Amino acid sequence: MKTRITELLGIEHPIIQGGMHYVGFAELAAAVSNAGGLGIITGLTQKTPALLAREIARCREMTDKPIGVNLTFLPVIESPDYPGYVKAIVDGGIRIVETAGNNPAKWMPMLKEHGITVIHKCTTVRHALKAESVGCDALSIDGFECGGHPGEDDIPNMILLPRAADELKVPFVASGGMADARSLVAALAMGADGMNMGTRFIATQEAPVHGNVKQAILAASELDTRLIMRPLRNTERVLTNAAVERVLEIERAQGAHISFEDIVKEVAGVYPKVMLDGDMDAGAWSCGMVAGLIHDIPTVKELIDRIMSEARTLISGRLRELAA
Ligand SMILES: Cc1cc2nc3c(=O)[nH]c(=O)nc-3n(C[C@H](O)[C@H](O)[C@H](O)COP(=O)(O)O)c2cc1C
Repeated sequence: MKTRITELLGIEHPIIQGGMHYVGFAELAAAVSNAGGLGIITGLTQKTPALLAREIARCREMTDKPIGVNLTFLPVIESPDYPGYVKAIVDGGIRIVETAGNNPAKWMPMLKEHGITVIHKCTTVRHALKAESVGCDALSIDGFECGGHPGEDDIPNMILLPRAADELKVPFVASGGMADARSLVAALAMGADGMNMGTRFIATQEAPVHGNVKQAILAASELDTRLIMRPLRNTERVLTNAAVERVLEIERAQGAHISFEDIVKEVAGVYPKVMLDGDMDAGAWSCGMVAGLIHDIPTVKELIDRIMSEARTLISGRLRELAA
């Protein structure tokens, strides 16, 4: 299937694996790219630029297909060494970067100077237009359903994607709530050029996370995510657990007086404990509502092949019949 996104990124299928903290390691990125999608290594999971360089090299040993690196620009006081990470990306021969969080304007000259294709992930049309105006090559439009940070506007993809299609000139992929061929075909119908998946890729054989995480996603329904940190305007969609319920209780009790320190125990330093050790109640971790659509743990190739073959059947079968 050829779309503006497959053409831009030089990939076979219009499917991207979004950056995921402590999930987007070389193994998963390589598996997605080898299956014809775009795999993305999560930059900041690597604690230093030198470690990112090593992770990129590890991934390169597993695939010669295009791979990307996610750079998340966090609203923190002590900024990570972003110039160092960009240098590791450039030196590692990476040609595609997924940016997220704050607007990437400050980093665009450095990325563009090295011919890097930038896909910016954002949750509003307003932010997408801004990203387009500073030279981003593509957008990943993350609806309210998404795992991770859905922003503060709460616009689901049924509205957000057609709105993006009406406004944007550059290609974009639909992100948030995407799981299968139906998601892909719907996204294409709403004007997107492909889809980005997070949560769905965690429940795959190659995702290098503890089996408890995959089982938790399988066991979850679409009712089992919660929004935390809304009072701090840093909303995150997470899978509910004892720690998340504690956060929500603290948020209710503290009201407008809440500060990050009140919940730091439940949200800081959690990912290695959950993703690597399988300690499912260690704290809050991102998960999308799409968990309700995930019922198996296929290999990445089985997943992508299934999506593409069912999408073709959907388009040439049911949809063609409806058009007759
Ligand atoms: C466990 C987890 C960790 C994530 N970490 C990041 C991250 O570090 N940076 C980022 O830009 N997005 C992150 N995301 C968001 C994903 O890249 C993607 O946008 C999102 O998962 C799409 O929604 P979905 O889960 O419904 O597919 C994370 C998502 C999950 C589920």
